Amino acid sequence: MFSVTGAPRPFSRRDFLRAGSGAALGGVLAARTFDLEAEQVATVPAGDAVRFGIIGVGTQGSALLTNAVTVSGVQCVAASDLYDGRHTLAREIAGPDIKTTRRYQELLDDKSIECLIVAVPDFWHKTVVVDALSAGKDVYCEKPMSHTIAEGAEMVKAVERTGKFVQVGSQRVSSAIFIKAQELVASGAIGDVLQAELQLGRNTPDGAWEYPPPPDLSPENLDWETWQKDVPKKPFDPLTFARWRCWHQYGTGMAGDLMVHLVSGMQFVTGINQVPDKVFTVGGIERWKDGRNMPDVQNTILDYGKIHVSVRLTLGTETPEVTRVMGSKGVVEISNNSVAFIPQLGINTSPSYYSQSYPAALRKEYLHDWQEKNDPILAEHPLADVDVYRGPSWDGLRPHLATFFSAVRTRKPVVEDVVFGNHAATACHMANASYFEGKLIGGK
Ligand SMILES: NC(=O)c1ccc[n+]([C@@H]2O[C@H](COP(=O)([O-])OP(=O)(O)OC[C@H]3O[C@@H](n4cnc5c(N)ncnc54)[C@H](O)[C@@H]3O)[C@@H](O)[C@H]2O)c1
Repeated sequence: MFSVTGAPRPFSRRDFLRAGSGAALGGVLAARTFDLEAEQVATVPAGDAVRFGIIGVGTQGSALLTNAVTVSGVQCVAASDLYDGRHTLAREIAGPDIKTTRRYQELLDDKSIECLIVAVPDFWHKTVVVDALSAGKDVYCEKPMSHTIAEGAEMVKAVERTGKFVQVGSQRVSSAIFIKAQELVASGAIGDVLQAELQLGRNTPDGAWEYPPPPDLSPENLDWETWQKDVPKKPFDPLTFARWRCWHQYGTGMAGDLMVHLVSGMQFVTGINQVPDKVFTVGGIERWKDGRNMPDVQNTILDYGKIHVSVRLTLGTETPEVTRVMGSKGVVEISNNSVAFIPQLGINTSPSYYSQSYPAALRKEYLHDWQEKNDPILAEHPLADVDVYRGPSWDGLRPHLATFFSAVRTRKPVVEDVVFGNHAATACHMANASYFEGKLIGGK
């Protein structure tokens, strides 16, 4: 899975123990570094190209389309968006011959389209996805899969009813670093998984979703009435169009925008594929008092029974994105473009400091006995080197898309299917429910 570049820097167990794992967690004690090979990109079996359409060609839709058209064996034939400027954008990306329309139903009616990428705002996901499945299309749906817990359940049922499949777009599960992290945990490298810590912080207007609306946006080139769906109507508002994440009527806040990536990664790495038993959140609108109703700091505890997860999200302070999975034999920590494996013996490697409280004669005897008994054991333990695996990229968008297109033809199951996506989204909805209701969600 990986190739070693350059000579590994030797680092002994003794060095590691002396420095302590806290320093290693901060990335100071990278003992040996390895470069991971690029992800294996699934292929579409030879034959006719997979013909796809895209619904929603905004910030993420345009990134998806740009990547999708580079996957071999696929062809974009149509794009739908309620804003005409994004018809132009779609043709710029996928070629002048693709069909563009405001009405996504036209893509559903087109029998030549086998599958759809859906990248509309969260409050539109369920409607578009259920319509697409019912029209016989497989769907790549952006995260968070749903806008509410009830909508997620409807989407799962729609997959069961139609026999079509959904792949959800938390694309990092397809990156080499998450795949390496999953391999490490599955191999038992960190022993029994007990806890995970997930963290992410931003500190810019862009990071807090204060996006600049397209300068030409108007009721003439945007179907504003349709865009608002069943949310109580308001007059044309370019800020709502661009910054919908700030309000729960349209988006899911930091939980659905950011935490869902972290939770999906944690599910993938640990093998958890369930809804948390209990969720509790504290947070508030502390930094961006711009009329939003979603919190900009949010700390959440997710209790999965055997595994206990804490999530710290903020739009008020820049901090790295970290996924730290902790077990009885060490830590697997994903941060930036790398995954570190920090082993721990889980045994005493020196006499107990408690013996300082013994009188001298007792202490001497204790130390002697301890060394007699433990030195041979310690001598047998392998070196506890810290291994750092650097990934080719942080984001597995292209391989994630390739997996989807390949599955359209092969019908092989995808990792991030409707059940997986529903579990991750539901955890986020539970966190938001806890924030708004001020109480523990789930449990007895
Ligand atoms: N996977 C990721 O890393 C990632 C990153 C960003 C966004 N996203 C997700 O992608 C989705 C879209 O986010 P975005 O930032 O691109 O939003 P955006 O507002 O930039 O784009 C959404 C587009 O959907 C169009 N749209 C809305 N309703 C429609 C409808 N009924 N029919 C056709 N078009 C419609 C809008 O006109 C707009 O152009 C969200 O669910 C978001 O959470 C995922």
